[in-house]
Amino acid sequence: MKEIYLRDYVKPAFSIESVNLTFELEEEQTDVTNVMKFTKLDETQKHLRLDAMDLELLKLYINDLEIDESRYIIENESLTVLNVPASFTLKVVNRIYPHKNSELEGLYKSGSIFCTQNEPEGFRRITPYLDRPDVMSVFTTTVVANREKYPVLLSNGNKAQCHDSFDERHGVTWVDPHKKPSYLFALVAGDLGSISDEYTTASGERIELNIYCDLGNESKCYHAMKSLKEAMLWDEEKYGREYDLEIYNIVAVDSFNMGAMENKGLNIFNSAYVLADTDTASDANYMGIQSVIAHEYFHNWTGNRITCRDWFQLTLKEGLTVFRDQCFSADLNSSEVQRIEDVKGLRERQFVEDASPTAHPIQPKSYISMNNFYTSTVYEKGAEVIRMIHTLLGEENYRKATDIYFEEFDGQAVTTDDFLWAMSEASGLDLSAFKNWYHQSGTPKLKVDENFEKGVYTLNLTQIVPTTVDGKTQNPFYYPLKIALLDDQGKEILHETLIVSKMQEEFTYGGLKAKPTLSINRDFSAPIVVEQEGVDFSFLMKHDKNSFIKYEAAQAFGVETLESIMNGEDINPAFIESFGHLLDLDLDLSYKALLLELPSVSTLMQRQEKVDFEPIYEAKEKLSIALASTYKEKLLKLYTAHHEVHAAINSISMGKRSLKNRVLRILSALETEEIALLTQTQYKSSKSMSDRVIALDILENIHSNFSQVALSDFYNKYKDETLVMNKYFSILAASNRVGTIDRVQALQNDPVYDEKVPNLVRSLIGVFARNYKHFHSKDGHGYAFVADKIITIDKINPQMASGLAGAFKIYSRINETNKTLIEKELKRVISTQDLSKNTFEIISKILK
Ligand code: BES
Ligand code: ZN
Repeated sequence: MKEIYLRDYVKPAFSIESVNLTFELEEEQTDVTNVMKFTKLDETQKHLRLDAMDLELLKLYINDLEIDESRYIIENESLTVLNVPASFTLKVVNRIYPHKNSELEGLYKSGSIFCTQNEPEGFRRITPYLDRPDVMSVFTTTVVANREKYPVLLSNGNKAQCHDSFDERHGVTWVDPHKKPSYLFALVAGDLGSISDEYTTASGERIELNIYCDLGNESKCYHAMKSLKEAMLWDEEKYGREYDLEIYNIVAVDSFNMGAMENKGLNIFNSAYVLADTDTASDANYMGIQSVIAHEYFHNWTGNRITCRDWFQLTLKEGLTVFRDQCFSADLNSSEVQRIEDVKGLRERQFVEDASPTAHPIQPKSYISMNNFYTSTVYEKGAEVIRMIHTLLGEENYRKATDIYFEEFDGQAVTTDDFLWAMSEASGLDLSAFKNWYHQSGTPKLKVDENFEKGVYTLNLTQIVPTTVDGKTQNPFYYPLKIALLDDQGKEILHETLIVSKMQEEFTYGGLKAKPTLSINRDFSAPIVVEQEGVDFSFLMKHDKNSFIKYEAAQAFGVETLESIMNGEDINPAFIESFGHLLDLDLDLSYKALLLELPSVSTLMQRQEKVDFEPIYEAKEKLSIALASTYKEKLLKLYTAHHEVHAAINSISMGKRSLKNRVLRILSALETEEIALLTQTQYKSSKSMSDRVIALDILENIHSNFSQVALSDFYNKYKDETLVMNKYFSILAASNRVGTIDRVQALQNDPVYDEKVPNLVRSLIGVFARNYKHFHSKDGHGYAFVADKIITIDKINPQMASGLAGAFKIYSRINETNKTLIEKELKRVISTQDLSKNTFEIISKILK
């Protein structure tokens, strides 16, 4: 399979001044007419090679003259037009079959809606083109379809013209005045419901806002609309960026590979990130919608106006935009909770990836399938890299720097170096050493040694730099390290931001009465692992003012306690005691809920030499039972104090729910009738979807007799709401019950389930592949089942299949029994005929 290298980048040989597209949408096929104005940039190039996938060419014209086969060559993935002049107009007419498109790339149908997904390389499935982000052009698009079936016809930009003259068909022409790459092209046609609103920008422009969805779902779009307006205002206030078209359209579709897509002026969303009402959406759904709507909106400047030169630069737009959406969510909600959630996500996904055979820098050096590089590393670690720049520059210089970035590169396709140039230009900082973050992989560690003598405290820091996947050594990293020193009363003696850049660093602090306590990597100022021995976690939990470190200390203390249990030791009473102390604290309730969470299985797994899940489960269960029985009365009191049956969607009610449900989960370890009854009552009486789903999950996992009744009740109520059915499938696929695999297999025949809809596959098969107990069961049945699904789904939708294959990334680190079982299945998958390059790339890397 062909590997693409960053070092092979060459500039495009042609530019495209304008593109004029016409789509004739029919039930069985769509004919596309594409008129492009080309100019040769490299005189030495005789021929024009366009990207084209499965091309069915109907006609081809140069400057309005039809040309025959002697003038062009069609190959697997290209159309080459021979001997072209210095500038010319090329007209291509070709035919595509959207209703047969199950990959969901290019133009396809989601139910009865025509829609597109072109990032990164879907446009070549629609029409021949220079399908690369550094070719930017002005697009005019006419969509023609049956008037009754497809009353709504949308594309990018502003609405220019309606054509009503074709009897049962009608058409609309859209003009997007902003130059853009083909991956931002979008088209939608359907019989859609919508809600509308407007927004007036800081400079007084009135923007029409529309959100489209399936008929009947209009009332579920208001939260998305509110979030959109919040995002528009935030980007004006924080970055000085205004919207730049007359219309902003969002369309929600059910079949979508990803979460959402930032197509210029016409975002297309997975309906899971648009639709919400109190009856069907959880609190997490509400938060998710707010952040994804904002993320795609923010791309208008960081991604669309300024785009990537090539796909190796993906983090230029994604890392930066994730950082922007994280800051937005922190500003609008609880900043302390947001930071912890972001770090949790990073550690659970990115740290795991960084320790696996698919580890790569945020700017990869090569790829086989670009679709595989929309990773946690490019996104979440990429966002941490931007956050470090923000810390190094400070708020004011960072804003100056982004202003320079927007000013200098507007309308261009640029590189991460261009971005870093703007950051240096504004601040005078030399970021050359910092660049390692873009080119090196793996999670850096920092070993901490302390010394205290004659009033002088010395901090010795040693970087432990990981090797690459192929075992090559890498250079030290450069990062800001926020620290504080606390006195024995827990008061801050000082706090500052150190710069770590060499392998060894030494910092000294004199004039101290006693050895201070170190608070290190505050706010998680760098994405590293700190290794330090002899830390007094309960002291930090009690005294540190930094909300992140308080959480960090509670987690680290939990890890230490669980690992000692795994080593056969008794439960450390000091942990039980400090947990009790946390219960009494008067804190933001969502934050408190996080403090009370025990370390995840993933956290403990990452620290094991040879991964084995059972000891982790056993230890967690033991500790949970101890906590629940020691503090039963206190926990029940907290539960009652914060339980509400009505479901207000505001931060106060959400906070109450997250604390109360955390408490309920802890209590559920007792598996008593009393707790089962409490959970059952919560399921029956609560109006909040979060409350009901958590109750269902607990009932299922404590094997309550009521769980079957509750699950059927839930199913019958919501079988027509696919978004809610995703939750139902997830609960069953994540269950710890005996026979879970048989149930998952049987659920594939449920009338609601559909193997062609990514959300459903993710919530049944994807969740099962993250069910440590049953996926990794020692009889190998879990692996065999998922391997079978990868093979079947690869033929339908390779992107979905390679996503499932990711569950096997643990291979190289797992115990021998499981390793042998996985190897057998992966070898079976990789020897399948016509395996997609997506799945091939992931599995071959895992096996290597
Ligand atoms: N540009 C991406 C969507 C995308 C990713 C399209 C990969 C094609 C291939 C979009 O901006 C994005 O990043 N979406 C995320 C959600 C976001 C909030 C991180 C997604 O879809 O998961
Ligand atoms: Zn994005």
